[in-house]
Amino acid sequence: MLQKEKRINIQNYQRVEIKFTPKIPHLKKIKDKSKINVRYSLISPFSFAHIYWDPKEYELVYEVEEPYLNEKEIIYKNQIISAMRDMINFDTVIEKNQETLLDYIDKRFKILAIELGIDLPYESYQKIFYYLARDFIGFNETDPLLRDYFVEDIECNGINTPIYIVHRLYRNIKTNIKFKNSNKLSNFVEKLAQRCGKYISYSNPILDGSLPDGSRVNATYTKDITSRGPTFTIRKFTKTPWTPTQLISLKTLSAEMLAYLWILIQYKMNLLITGGTSSGKTTLLNAIVFFIPPEARVVSIEDTRELNLPRENWLPSIVRNATGIEKAGEVNLFTLLKSSFRQNPDYVIVGEVRGKETYVLFQGMASGHSSLSTMHADSVDTVIKRLETPPIELSPTLLNILDCVCIMTHAIVNKQETRKLKEIAEIVNINSNGIALTNTPFKWNPRDDQFYFKKNSKIFEKISQRYGLRLEELELEFKKRVRLIYALYKNKIFKFEEVQDVINQYYKKPEQTLRKFGIM
Ligand SMILES: Nc1ncnc2c1ncn2[C@@H]1O[C@H](COP(=O)(O)OP(=O)(O)OP(=O)(O)O)[C@@H](O)[C@H]1O
Ligand SMILES: [Mg+2]
Repeated sequence: MLQKEKRINIQNYQRVEIKFTPKIPHLKKIKDKSKINVRYSLISPFSFAHIYWDPKEYELVYEVEEPYLNEKEIIYKNQIISAMRDMINFDTVIEKNQETLLDYIDKRFKILAIELGIDLPYESYQKIFYYLARDFIGFNETDPLLRDYFVEDIECNGINTPIYIVHRLYRNIKTNIKFKNSNKLSNFVEKLAQRCGKYISYSNPILDGSLPDGSRVNATYTKDITSRGPTFTIRKFTKTPWTPTQLISLKTLSAEMLAYLWILIQYKMNLLITGGTSSGKTTLLNAIVFFIPPEARVVSIEDTRELNLPRENWLPSIVRNATGIEKAGEVNLFTLLKSSFRQNPDYVIVGEVRGKETYVLFQGMASGHSSLSTMHADSVDTVIKRLETPPIELSPTLLNILDCVCIMTHAIVNKQETRKLKEIAEIVNINSNGIALTNTPFKWNPRDDQFYFKKNSKIFEKISQRYGLRLEELELEFKKRVRLIYALYKNKIFKFEEVQDVINQYYKKPEQTLRKFGIM
């Protein structure tokens, strides 16, 4: 007894302080990829990201650096982890506050070490504690990636192949993280499902869900020998959306386009943002939401949490079941949308429309609620066709309620992957045969990478009639806003709160706001 107490000191060790959200480093955009060499903290003080150019592979590498464990430490760590796993299902306690969980893990770790007769020097104890916290609270090997503010997407295409990430500044990068064992990968995918509150199995092999922090998860579950096993992608919920001015600096659109959309939104026109997969539809939607008048009542509806609106008067809701088939206790997009109109919002934002809910959306528009949404389609013609044919099947009369379609696209410019607002089209009229007459005030020209503006907007005419404004007045207003947005961009006003603040001020005191930026 005496011997045991003397041998094992662990109970006297002070718990390590772990920071899962260390300060965001100040990274610079570096054009020449071969010059990139940055290192920053992910989980302090234990893990780091090291991004550098690998001259042999001729590509960028994202290396997660974690504490090195020697053979003995690895054995101890595995013993503790499997003993701990038997003791408690962490996925049910994960809701608890993080510090409480860390204390809990620490206590269990110490008890188990004593029970198993594991003696550890303080340094080993600290390192193993890190791995326990990472695996039980977080997401194992991928946890540092999820903690990285700059990581947007995490993609794993099976075993024995490196995980890739999309970095906010340096874009697609291969990591040094790899699942080598298909059981481990299956377990990990199960863990993802569990944290999404869903279930994945051989009979139900596709997961589409969101993590408690709002990150979107897609995963497949298979052991088909021809494939590399389960796969997953995590699209992180970037809490601060891109602002209108940031989209200008990304050359996604022009100040004119934004000023135009601002006017459309203020005067409650109905907008649809379309484009292919991952073309930046949701990002644009979130950016133009900044233009909604500050006092307006906004309701948003989504399958998975992506939108983040910088406003107080906002009622977000999430669909509990994304399959569209309603079971007891579940709420789908269709039902949510119907009930949202009863809350009498000024603006209704629907993350993405696909099916019969689109009909409800158009009815809502027809009864005077302004609507903003996205849809998967790569041209105006496709949009119209999709809206006219089953399962949506809108009548030409109802279709005429739609005012404007913004088309997003992927584009390679100077060998760089970019997103462009390719075209803004106004729906002028849809005749009784369903043929659409459109007007295109804005177009991006791939040849010179410029955005062209054709001055006559049919929607401006519509607004001037509906609101009793003179067209010249509206055009002058448009010009002022172009200058204001351009000034914001020039003055590097990119931050979420700052941009929203100026827009709100402009609504209240336009002249004063313009003067502040040296306009007028
Ligand atoms: N203007 C942009 N410039 C550069 N990258 C962008 C831009 N807009 C979006 N992205 C990136 O593209 C990815 C997809 O963006 P987003 O979710 O907005 O696209 P989406 O068209 O809504 O996709 P989905 O088809 O999945 O709904 C994100 O990782 C985002 O960081
Ligand atoms: Mg989207």
